[in-house]
Amino acid sequence: MQLLDTIRETAALPQEKALSLPGQAYSDDALFAHECQTMLKQGWHCLGRCDEVASAGDFFTADLLGEPLLVVRGDDDVIRVLSNLCRHRAMPLAEGSGNADKFICSYHAWSYSRDGALRNAARMKNTALDMKSCRLPEYRSEEWRGFIYVSLDDDAPPLAPTLAGLEGIVAPYHVEDFQIVHSAEEVWHCNWKCLVENFMEGYHLSVVHPVTLHGYTPTALSRKFEGGEGFTGYHANYPQSTPPRGTGHPALTTEQRHRSSLFCVYPCQVVSQAANLLVSLSLQPLSPSSVRVRWTLSVWEDELDTATIAQRVALWEEVNREDREKLERLQPGLASSRADAGPLAPADYEGTIHDFHGYLARSLG
Ligand code: FES
Ligand SMILES: [Fe+2]
Repeated sequence: MQLLDTIRETAALPQEKALSLPGQAYSDDALFAHECQTMLKQGWHCLGRCDEVASAGDFFTADLLGEPLLVVRGDDDVIRVLSNLCRHRAMPLAEGSGNADKFICSYHAWSYSRDGALRNAARMKNTALDMKSCRLPEYRSEEWRGFIYVSLDDDAPPLAPTLAGLEGIVAPYHVEDFQIVHSAEEVWHCNWKCLVENFMEGYHLSVVHPVTLHGYTPTALSRKFEGGEGFTGYHANYPQSTPPRGTGHPALTTEQRHRSSLFCVYPCQVVSQAANLLVSLSLQPLSPSSVRVRWTLSVWEDELDTATIAQRVALWEEVNREDREKLERLQPGLASSRADAGPLAPADYEGTIHDFHGYLARSLG
């Protein structure tokens, strides 16, 4: 595929000569199918936060690249990601979220334990069913800093080692101790990679978010930090003249309290980490021009009162609306034969996009 060569060549450019990808990379059906079969299938995808399933039996469902998933905490306290399809004739088993002692299929009432083992199947004596071995298939999953990840590939290399270089940046915030207070799901009509690139660059902040973000995180103060095998990111520093925005963990330094760190866990999670606020978007690609976005907002202990939390949720709804408006206007033109590659801004502003292209080149085979 010619497009794969273009991605490789673009990724190999030195930073000072970095280019965007041509529009075709964000609109081509064959490339999207290839992404699904390779990088997206093998990659680690954030499904949500561990405290969304805080107690045994807590569950939520998800759909990732056409795979119906059931995330559930077992009686042994382990969070598992199971196939959400009944082993009889593939009826979807659980819906939405909640707490369940067992999962009962709505079709012929087979029932499953919280760890996916088949518990009961009526009138199935003298059939091909082996009660002992029948269970919901389990996907590879990992927990990292309070996030739950899944890979659809049983042989995917582990996630955590690829994020080693990110630990120093996020560990001081104690990300794993943040508590979720809000989640929402929406479908954006844009390519998933455009959303990653948009979230990861500080170049647009002052232009697209003049009221919502510019005062705290102006473009001019964006500083990229070094990326690694599984991530890239930058610090969105606050102007010295602005008051601190939160305290967070008592051991945080003044500098750490005076910025938001934005990072991408490849391929599909983008995060904004501040002293007392953690926002994460999980992107679930649906087609070359549509992506389901599940986002969560978590807070540090009880630092923010209910009214302030509502304000922060409203702010992020507005920020997302501003980004979405731009990305949905961008998308139709990307199929144009004239949507050629353009030069990227210097590393502090768009170097994260160049890092992301390096990941694409490594992962698309
Ligand atoms: S499909 Fe679930 S019991 Fe038949
Ligand atoms: Fe934005």
